[in-house]
Amino acid sequence: MTFDGAPPPGTINFGVGQPSADLLPVDLVRQASESFFAEAQPFDLNYGVPRGDARFLDLLAEFLTRYYGVPASPGELFVTGGNSQALSLASTVYARPGDTVFVEEPSYFLAFKILRDHGLKTVGIDMDSDGPKIAALETALREHRPAFFYTIPGYHNPTGICSSAARRRELVRLAHDNDFLIVADEPYQLLHYYDEPPPAMGTMAASGVVVSMGSFSKILAPGMRLGWLQAPESSLQKIMRIGLIHSGGCINHISSQIVRHALENDLLDAHIDKLRTTYRGRVEAMDDALHEHFDDIAEWRKPDGGYFVWLRLDESVNTTPLKDKALELETGFTAGSLFSNHGALKNYLRLSFAHYNEDDIREGIARLRPLFDS
Ligand SMILES: Cc1ncc(COP(=O)(O)O)c(C=O)c1O
Repeated sequence: MTFDGAPPPGTINFGVGQPSADLLPVDLVRQASESFFAEAQPFDLNYGVPRGDARFLDLLAEFLTRYYGVPASPGELFVTGGNSQALSLASTVYARPGDTVFVEEPSYFLAFKILRDHGLKTVGIDMDSDGPKIAALETALREHRPAFFYTIPGYHNPTGICSSAARRRELVRLAHDNDFLIVADEPYQLLHYYDEPPPAMGTMAASGVVVSMGSFSKILAPGMRLGWLQAPESSLQKIMRIGLIHSGGCINHISSQIVRHALENDLLDAHIDKLRTTYRGRVEAMDDALHEHFDDIAEWRKPDGGYFVWLRLDESVNTTPLKDKALELETGFTAGSLFSNHGALKNYLRLSFAHYNEDDIREGIARLRPLFDS
């Protein structure tokens, strides 16, 4: 059995930002599916209503209210095929080809491609340990009128940074004052391993300037291709008018029914607890191994959640050509420049701790070190 991006057997490739086999809950999905099909009516197999089945949206609202700690209402939710698809929708609906959008520098490299597929120009906004820098955003706003700002506030990919509550509020204020939308990509919000993060930006949907994208990819299974938008009704109405939704109705009706049964049967909470405990062990194993092998040549911050550690090496190092050499050593990483809006960050690399157990993580980090001994 394989999957998109699967590493060769024996390789410990920290470029794989996907869960390991033991964290993909086949039994949970089987139980939820059996529960759905035991009760399914013929019209459950028909086109779903565009925004999503009301029974699912009610349960999703309850789930978000519980996990985000702020009441969510079904009326501000819309079913998507996950955050990649949601970003594509947002790019269709909230921007026009040729528009500029702001992204963080660095940002999720696969998002660049989605934005560019829609003919959007991207401008990078530098970050610090509290999130995107407000001064950098203000400077960019003097030169550009962005259609939206694509931000990853919770356990950012690739840096692991969690934007502070104050920074999130500042973003909302600037979006109001300068008439742009914030498209917040929040797939890691529930994957926190220590203190609770600030509330998701989805809880700021009533501000009228935030469209939050949430996903079951990281808390259940990427293959479900199921997520949601949390946004004001007026923003969702714009999506419901596009051809794709008119023609096909709900984007992922059957997956949403299966997850509805997972929520109804309270199957997800224990799984999320397991993910938190397991990933916490893995991030600690990676941080310890990095201290053992990389203390003298790299800097990083141990993230409090998410999937990633972002490593900075000496300015003279270019990680891009080292990627192939890493594979020869049966290990791997994602080169930093992929995450830059303008080909910078060559002396950085991203390590995912999601795909390997603690022993493999220690072994893989040890294998990486000789790459940097010249
Ligand atoms: C920041 C970010 N956005 C989106 C995605 C993809 O999400 P989905 O599987 O919901 O399309 C990922 C997955 O790695 C991600 O890290």
